[in-house]
Amino acid sequence: MGSRIVRSRLELEGIELPEGLLNPTLEIIAGHESVRGFQEKPLSDEALKAILTAARSAPTSSNLQAYSIIVITAKESKDRMAELSGNQGFIREAPVFLVFCADIYRLKYITEKQGHRFGGESLEMFLLASVDAAIALQNALVAAESLGLVTVPVGSVRNNPVAMAEYLELPPGVFALAGLSIGYEKEGVRRGVKPRLPEKVTVHEEKYSTRLLDEGLSEYDQTMIDRRTYDGRRVSIAGEPEREGIDYGWCEHSARRCSRPETIAVSASLRKNLKTVLEQLGFSIR
Ligand SMILES: Cc1cc2nc3c(=O)[nH]c(=O)nc-3n(C[C@H](O)[C@H](O)[C@H](O)COP(=O)(O)O)c2cc1C
Repeated sequence: MGSRIVRSRLELEGIELPEGLLNPTLEIIAGHESVRGFQEKPLSDEALKAILTAARSAPTSSNLQAYSIIVITAKESKDRMAELSGNQGFIREAPVFLVFCADIYRLKYITEKQGHRFGGESLEMFLLASVDAAIALQNALVAAESLGLVTVPVGSVRNNPVAMAEYLELPPGVFALAGLSIGYEKEGVRRGVKPRLPEKVTVHEEKYSTRLLDEGLSEYDQTMIDRRTYDGRRVSIAGEPEREGIDYGWCEHSARRCSRPETIAVSASLRKNLKTVLEQLGFSIR
């Protein structure tokens, strides 16, 4: 028996906003769902322009704008992106793949051009650039979804950072942080908005509190079990027998993923030398 597909997290959580508060922006954000299936239909130049303008409208730390976006639409480039990102088929399907990069190349360039010595070789600068790039990605996602398109963020672009940098011809100080597939949804792929951890777990008043943590986690486990989220998607840990009779919800699924790096992503083992790789790519992590 298929249950009704719920399209809004407000509805899912029974949140009724008073008149005047609910608006199209909130509806788009609360209706977000990663949809991993795209039609071949291309995006118009205008739609792409609107999405990129939204991304570029994101706030950035000290207005340093320490990010770059690489727009990928050519078939062979999307094939290569998919290949380097865990062979996820939807990357090939989607008409547009945006790669959001943390970028300190430009800052180093202007610092030296202005006759100063670049002092941004630090972990803080990498973090700053990564936050700028991530916020720009989220703006692009919301903009795309507001245009009736669907999206999937792709962290697997970090599976092969050196090969990715080579293919995209990234200069030193530019790191491909995350991708975003964008396009028109293929019918039959949507599953409805995915429930989030309850507010009592992720939102704290004035000070951090773990008082309601266990209660909230149990509730969320039950929600995800009832929704059959992990049916056929259980993480098995190599060398360990499958534990029988266990409640397999978000806690068990996420715990398994966090217990061994190789279960977080197929090629997470490729990411484990990230510090060395980042230095190789022109970031100093001091
Ligand atoms: C930074 C980031 C990286 C992600 N990487 C991938 C990915 O490589 N492949 C994928 O299928 N989904 C990816 N996702 C999508 C998440 O799996 C998804 O957002 C999460 O399960 C919640 O589901 P929802 O987006 O449908 O609400 C990523 C999401 C984020 C924010």
